[in-house]
Amino acid sequence: MEKKWWHDKVAYQIYPKSFKDSNGDGIGDLRGIIEKLDYLKELGADILWLCPIYKSPFVDQGYDISDYYKIDESFGSMEDFDELLAETKKRDMYVIMDLVINHCSDQHEWFQKALKDPEGEFGDYFYFRKGKDGNPPSNYRSYFGGSAWEKVAGSDYYYLHMFAKQQPDLNWNNEKLMRELYTMVNWWLEKGLAGFRIDAIMNVKKDMEFKDLEPDGEDGLGEVWRMLETVDGVGEMLEDLKRNTFEKYQAFTVAEVSTMKKDELSDFIGDNGHFGTMFDFSATVLGNGEHGWYDSKPIQFDDFRRVLYRSQLACQDVGFLANIIENHDSPRGVNRFLPEYARNDAGIKMLGTVSVLLRGIPFLYQGQEIGMQNCQRDSIEEYDDISTIQEYHKALEAGFEPKEALAVCGQISRDNARTPMQWDDGENAGFTRGTPWLKTNPNYRRINVKEQMEREDSVLNYYKRLLALRKSDLYREVFTYGRFAPLFEMEEKIFAYERRLENTAVRVIANFSCVEKTLPVDYLSGDQVLLNNLEEIWVQERSITLRPFQVVVVRS
Ligand code: GLC
Ligand code: CA
Repeated sequence: MEKKWWHDKVAYQIYPKSFKDSNGDGIGDLRGIIEKLDYLKELGADILWLCPIYKSPFVDQGYDISDYYKIDESFGSMEDFDELLAETKKRDMYVIMDLVINHCSDQHEWFQKALKDPEGEFGDYFYFRKGKDGNPPSNYRSYFGGSAWEKVAGSDYYYLHMFAKQQPDLNWNNEKLMRELYTMVNWWLEKGLAGFRIDAIMNVKKDMEFKDLEPDGEDGLGEVWRMLETVDGVGEMLEDLKRNTFEKYQAFTVAEVSTMKKDELSDFIGDNGHFGTMFDFSATVLGNGEHGWYDSKPIQFDDFRRVLYRSQLACQDVGFLANIIENHDSPRGVNRFLPEYARNDAGIKMLGTVSVLLRGIPFLYQGQEIGMQNCQRDSIEEYDDISTIQEYHKALEAGFEPKEALAVCGQISRDNARTPMQWDDGENAGFTRGTPWLKTNPNYRRINVKEQMEREDSVLNYYKRLLALRKSDLYREVFTYGRFAPLFEMEEKIFAYERRLENTAVRVIANFSCVEKTLPVDYLSGDQVLLNNLEEIWVQERSITLRPFQVVVVRS
């Protein structure tokens, strides 16, 4: 396997709107991020992924871009951005941004021009099609609900939007558009960006016949992603993108891949793959409802363990996956992957350990390092996220009481992860001196950075030790390139694995159950213990006893 500069790095996802507000308007901004760079460096982050900060009407929180060359004023200016780049360089850190080029905003000038003349030059930057007998061109249901086709007022044309109607899909078959997109990507890379997180990329290749799907609901529509499964050839588009952009800069790319076909892993993340890495969503999608959030199910430990072992084993001869427990589209990992009885400091540290030491690139999401948790709201008005509002109504239509529908949102809403970062126990958690754009989680008085900095045994200080171990001179190589092998697979509620590289082997053993577990191991001496989330470790001659939610990292 060819070595790349980013293989041994730790990434940290910033949701800029909720990270740190420097000017009191209630919206996090670039100067706020600059203020916190030392904090991030000290934590152990190398690569910072910024969620979209481009000019946008914010219908989908910046994933609707109206100008790819501008920073949205709410985040600051291009000068601020350049300063952020310079300040990260000084600290040996890297910045990557979201690349959202499956669609843009309906306010983008391309789309505005296209609307005026769907048959003209810019019309072909998008997918404008005539309706069928007064109906949309096909029965696709968009990801955010309702038809994926929006009628153009005063014409027979509809345009395709796989997400919200304010996010028209870009036509990747148009060469002139593709040249414009490549130029833009290269412009950012020239500026010094280290790479991109590539948004919703599997959606770029469409069935150009736009055939109807088998309806899967009473609305007579079919989920638009099912169309993707019927087409081949996305790989050629992705190769073209890579050759014209990333490859020339050795850029780091991490893709959001939703619908990969079987046996394509090496095309995607092999030595010459389309991308550097891609997220492992195998645990993220567990429990997803068949019809919507309302019929989703709690995640079972056995499934969590099984899917992660499987993807670890599948990728180690191929490339690197990016490992997460949460992101801006999901609830907090602590609430999802830990049973209620384990949502304490020990459990949170344990979950972090098993995730961060997997083979792959660890991506921490802001607030994960202090164990931030979901936030229950009393009314749907307190939510901002477009998909939460839609899923709330879906639940009501399915017969849920408003209270029950709210409880569903409290568990699954994307806003759970988008609440302001909890810096201290002062007003608004130290995030802003103004009114935060999204209400702070009231638990900030208990869970915040300041308190955890001062407390030696806090989750935050533990995460620092964990990342430092992963990056230490002695163990960096084994945690980066070491093979993964599951351990104690037959033991209930034990998540354990070995990482081995030549003569160095490290074992991670975690007890997800609420009872003590004794496991057979050869004698361990104290100096073999590299990390332990509890104060003590109980070893016997040929076994080790783990307390509930205890995790230990030991070398052989
Ligand atoms: C990705 C983003 C998500 C966004 C969607 C549309 O899934 O992560 O936040 O809503 O793409 O751009
Ligand atoms: Ca601000």
